[in-house]
Amino acid sequence: MVRVGFLTSGGDCQALNATMRGIAKTLYQQRKDIEIIGFIDGYKGLMYENYRIMQPSDFEGILNLGGTILGTSRCPFKKMRVIENGFDKVAAMKKTYQKLKLDCLAVLGGNGSLKTAHLLSQEGMNVIGLPKTIDNDTWGTDYTFGFQSAVDIASRYLDEIQTTAYSHSRVFIVEIMGHKVGHICLSAGIAAGADIILLPEIPYDIEVIAQDIQKKVQAGQKSILIACAEGALSKEESMLSKKQYKLKVASREGHSVVYEIAQKLSHYIDKEIRVSLAGHAQRGGSPCAYDREMATLMGVEGAKLILDKNYGQLVVFVDHHLTAIPLEETAGKLKYVDVHGDTVQNARLMGISFGDE
Ligand code: F6P
Repeated sequence: MVRVGFLTSGGDCQALNATMRGIAKTLYQQRKDIEIIGFIDGYKGLMYENYRIMQPSDFEGILNLGGTILGTSRCPFKKMRVIENGFDKVAAMKKTYQKLKLDCLAVLGGNGSLKTAHLLSQEGMNVIGLPKTIDNDTWGTDYTFGFQSAVDIASRYLDEIQTTAYSHSRVFIVEIMGHKVGHICLSAGIAAGADIILLPEIPYDIEVIAQDIQKKVQAGQKSILIACAEGALSKEESMLSKKQYKLKVASREGHSVVYEIAQKLSHYIDKEIRVSLAGHAQRGGSPCAYDREMATLMGVEGAKLILDKNYGQLVVFVDHHLTAIPLEETAGKLKYVDVHGDTVQNARLMGISFGDE
């Protein structure tokens, strides 16, 4: 009997179910003695022995189902300590792992969750990782499932803003998700024809943005669409220490950076400015076809790692090939937008501004 635990951890995204289906179908196809145990709400399920024994039928009809059939929660070690009020979380997870006689644990997670997966693997558990996140910021892989679906939704959202911006001759600043990186914003911004794209990787200067808007208006443009990553930074903010920047963000009291940019811009331009947030819809609904395909194939690759007992690995997509890298290589690192890469450079050539020069 091969016993495999599944868990989905961190913010959800499209194609989590498609990935689990890909792993499960391959395991059931290749071996007759597979038992899959699904942990409820991510690592919490492993910690508090909250699980269910999965049947092949649990993986039917879920290929295009958004969210996760297992539930998820944020990674337990992000803000909290490993030992809290005398409760050792790693020891608790190890106990469940051993009690259930697991041969392997498959973790579908983003950066924080993969760091924990690596920690568990260092503790002697057999773990494999599958790169999940709309942000596409996992180091070591060109692609994380969920990303393309989020880009599709964000670009459609920008399309809808585009028409109302045009009718009212307004400047619209739209916040796009992506945490500390700008991958979704860059792709969706180009796909939707944004005039200005603001990314965490390219600190902006408010005066430059204002000049760019004026130039475009003088050239006859009625409306201006700004796609702004939620982690976008001004040049001044990019020079702050980590601590100072955290205080700065806290001073926004949960309000998005787009409000601050709109307020600052209003001192320079006399066009009407509106803001809009694409929000969590970017993570919702059915995965697009590309994500279904990628997630399914990444799932198969994950199953191969399990069947080959090749543990401590993360499934990755590099140079159009699916392969795996050690979890320790990716743990704790982020993949940022390449500001000197073709995408940014070509966007600049066609007149898209990044608010920096
Ligand atoms: O990591 C995915 C993501 O959607 C980020 O883009 C965003 O910053 C964050 O999660 C939002 O997290 P929460 O769902 O906890 O508000």
